[in-house]
Amino acid sequence: MKRPKITVIGSINIDLVTSTDCFPKQGETIRGNNFQTIPGGKGANQAIAAARLGADVHMIGRVGDDSFGSTLLENFEKEYVNTDHIDRVENTPSGLANIILSEKDNRIIIISGANAHVTPSYIERSKSVIIDSDYVLLQFEIPRETIEYCLQICSEHGIPVIVNPAPAMNLSEKSWEQATFITPNATERKQLFDEEWKEKLIVTRGKEGVSFIENGKEKLIPSHSVDVVDTTGAGDTFNGAFAVALARGLPIEAAVRFANAAAALSVGQLGAQGGMPAKEQVEEILAKG
Ligand code: RIB
Repeated sequence: MKRPKITVIGSINIDLVTSTDCFPKQGETIRGNNFQTIPGGKGANQAIAAARLGADVHMIGRVGDDSFGSTLLENFEKEYVNTDHIDRVENTPSGLANIILSEKDNRIIIISGANAHVTPSYIERSKSVIIDSDYVLLQFEIPRETIEYCLQICSEHGIPVIVNPAPAMNLSEKSWEQATFITPNATERKQLFDEEWKEKLIVTRGKEGVSFIENGKEKLIPSHSVDVVDTTGAGDTFNGAFAVALARGLPIEAAVRFANAAAALSVGQLGAQGGMPAKEQVEEILAKG
């Protein structure tokens, strides 16, 4: 089978992950259980999720000229993600996420670093790879004008785009219109949309599942029951897998079911990328029903 061509335009972060028994209260100091430094970033996570599922993936983004930048580039190579369109920004740190894991959930603070330098003019030189894609994935940890510029390029060339509006930020009316699918979680859906765009909304609802509109009515695909180690990156796994499934020609409901299963598997291991599955693992969990 031909490998789908997916291009991810977005953030690349190093995740500083601390696990604790409970979240600290304001002004409180508590002891943590474990600390790890691991690759992350919504863009990078989505790229790696798609690559593990057999797609031919190009990542467009930037890292800093620090040691984290080298680690992040090596990680893409190890995961067979094409890095021709990732460069290093001089005198700038790589993007970073401070993550606290507790109570089967997370709290995250991001510092943009090199991700803030993913500008429209930086994208311009990668236009040929964008317009040669079967699907493009965008998230919101790079500047708004870049997201809007990418949507414009895709719309002009008829390239379908999944927009994952995380963290929540508004786009122009025209840009939302140019998105093929919009994939907020339940909180982002509430923050950003009323009734608009509901036909293209695919809403990830954590342990409840994923909902979308079919024949004018909301349909919920329930989540799989799994042991949760770390939910970080579950949404990113969903998006990467959804793009792969759509690019392979699956109809919307089947693509949602495939991505929902991939996301369920992803929470079984520590780190945003730790539990991201291969295609066979997803097919196995889907076959079990
Ligand atoms: O979606 C999870 C990701 O959000 C983490 O990897 C972190 O880097 C933040 O971008």
